[in-house]
Amino acid sequence: MAAIETRVSSVDPELPDHAAIQEAATLICAGELVAFPTETVYGLGGDGLNPESLRRIYTVKGRPSDNPLILHIASPQQLRLVAAELPDIASALIHSFWPGALTLVLPKTSEVPDLATGGLATVAVRMPDHPVALALIRQVGTPLAGPSANRSGQPSPTTAQHVLDDLDGSIALVLDAGPTLIGVESTVLDVTCSPPVVLRPGGISQEAIEAAIGPLGERPEAAAYRRSPGMRYRHYSPRARVLLLEDTTPDSLQLAVDAARSCHQRVGCVLHRLALGAVPSGVMVKRAGGSVADYAHGLFAALRDLDRLGVEVIIVEGVTDEGLGTAVMDRLRRAASPPDA
Ligand code: TXA
Ligand code: MG
Repeated sequence: MAAIETRVSSVDPELPDHAAIQEAATLICAGELVAFPTETVYGLGGDGLNPESLRRIYTVKGRPSDNPLILHIASPQQLRLVAAELPDIASALIHSFWPGALTLVLPKTSEVPDLATGGLATVAVRMPDHPVALALIRQVGTPLAGPSANRSGQPSPTTAQHVLDDLDGSIALVLDAGPTLIGVESTVLDVTCSPPVVLRPGGISQEAIEAAIGPLGERPEAAAYRRSPGMRYRHYSPRARVLLLEDTTPDSLQLAVDAARSCHQRVGCVLHRLALGAVPSGVMVKRAGGSVADYAHGLFAALRDLDRLGVEVIIVEGVTDEGLGTAVMDRLRRAASPPDA
């Protein structure tokens, strides 16, 4: 594809300039792609009902065409256009969590092109909790397809610079509203089955969903892979090899560094709970410290930063598999899995 000039337009995250939104919407209506901020990660926005735009999204991301996209809407009323049915439980979830980091998988209408859903009979929809995203969707007037605005396989972008690092020269515009708040993607919940099942852990925890609607179904790995094609592909992976430290003590870190150094020169580490003093000298460190929310917020940026520094192995600290920690561990495990997994 011939390179195009990618422009960056800075917008206020709370009160986006109307002219900037209008310009972005005009590009999208003409079939172009515009990266936009959400509360989770930056999305690659294209007209969700235009097959030409959808095709372009897959090409630009280098994404397999059987991995479906999320449609972003600006109000629950817009659901009627894309969802053929709304189970009662979906209404309860929308009431509790929208706008927010919860994507619902619902039966699709014939308005939704097959390209948006990878040929599935269901469609994934969410209403993001970000003034810029909402203003853009309203201005475009149709649902916005919005996969994460990274090259397929790279960690999702949490800043406009990350988007440029992956997609400069292949999209028309990036709306830059600063770093995203949550830092990991939305939770994908299949509500076409009873009880609903989490297909991808994300920004809204399973515990919070269960507090609202009662127990969810088990996530049987094989079935989840079949139902959410995206789970099959390698994800969230920097170029470097990732070593996940499940048991985080200074001793286990030292052992992991020794193991990494037995075959690699340049070793990096994403530090969460361990003190800087626990890191052996010569190891490049990025901090994503504090709470689990801080870890989620800083994780993808830390992986990208270490990649840019050219490290060959990145050691990452594990967290407890609960709340937002489940989403963090899901991303860490997938980043740490071998390329053909
Ligand atoms: O937070 C997010 O969800 C971000 C922001 C930009 O909104 N978007 C995002 O999109 O992460 P993407 O395309 O990178 O991930 C979409 C996930 C994939 O795992 C995909 O397989 C799943 O949603 N998905 C989409 N449609 C589906 C469907 N009909 N059934 C099951 N899973 C679906
Ligand atoms: Mg993605």
